Amino acid sequence: MKIFIDTANLDEIKEALSWGIVDGITTNPSLIKKAVDYFKGKGKEFSMESYIKELLAAAGRERPVSLEVIGNTEEEMYRQAKTLFEKFNGVAGNVVIKIPVNPETEEGGKNAFDGLKVIKALSDEGIPVNVTLIMTPVQALLAAKAGAKYVSPFAGRIDDYLRSSKKITFEKHDYFPAEGLVLGDEIVNDNGIVSGVDLVGSIRDIFNNYDFDTEILAASVRNARQVRELAEVGADVATIPFAVLKDMISHYKTREGMVKFANDTVPEYREIFE
Ligand code: E4P
Repeated sequence: MKIFIDTANLDEIKEALSWGIVDGITTNPSLIKKAVDYFKGKGKEFSMESYIKELLAAAGRERPVSLEVIGNTEEEMYRQAKTLFEKFNGVAGNVVIKIPVNPETEEGGKNAFDGLKVIKALSDEGIPVNVTLIMTPVQALLAAKAGAKYVSPFAGRIDDYLRSSKKITFEKHDYFPAEGLVLGDEIVNDNGIVSGVDLVGSIRDIFNNYDFDTEILAASVRNARQVRELAEVGADVATIPFAVLKDMISHYKTREGMVKFANDTVPEYREIFE
């Protein structure tokens, strides 16, 4: 499974890249806002364009970086996608354009299929598209048919939605059972989907059935256990926040083992390294 880092914060990106396990980067308008607030808070001069160029250069040619459009109509999203690609892909050839699967903000919006139209147009031009805000397996199927390079199912937000449908309070990083939450004799579900991991697993089954090349980029990841489960169901990529990446390396018994090895080291063995 490839690991992307889900942040626009260059300090986090540079540190995570130095660990040697990051294969790409995803951003969205909320993550860009967080990064802008962080750097402005440090009293730094800030130019969005030079910042994005620095981020793309730090990622380098081999690591795709997703940049998201902010429009709601076919015309706006297509124009913004072209602007992002033309302005920034020259830096390291690694720009991927993020398009919402459905940009409507109210049910029954006339623009419900505008995302698919833009995904198709960009993909036909050879511009890689990451389709965002995927909440159902059939949205992923439509995005794959339109030619998406990646689909981003939002595992954590589906878990949030399932919990909030039952008015269950939770913290953002709380674990949600992959096999679903059993309440009485009901498994809490959204049209048959019982968790964010289940959503990803269902998309995996569909893509395998039809040999789609589209990669499943599991997004909205909330904790290390969810990462494990996403790998188990066969996500091609998980995009992971900095804090969750840090959690993945940590275990009490590993630290305890380090202390014991250090305490047991005899001078004769230490001398080899001097
Ligand atoms: C990724 O590209 C998504 O935009 C991101 O993972 C969303 O995460 P969140 O649900 O924690 O905001």
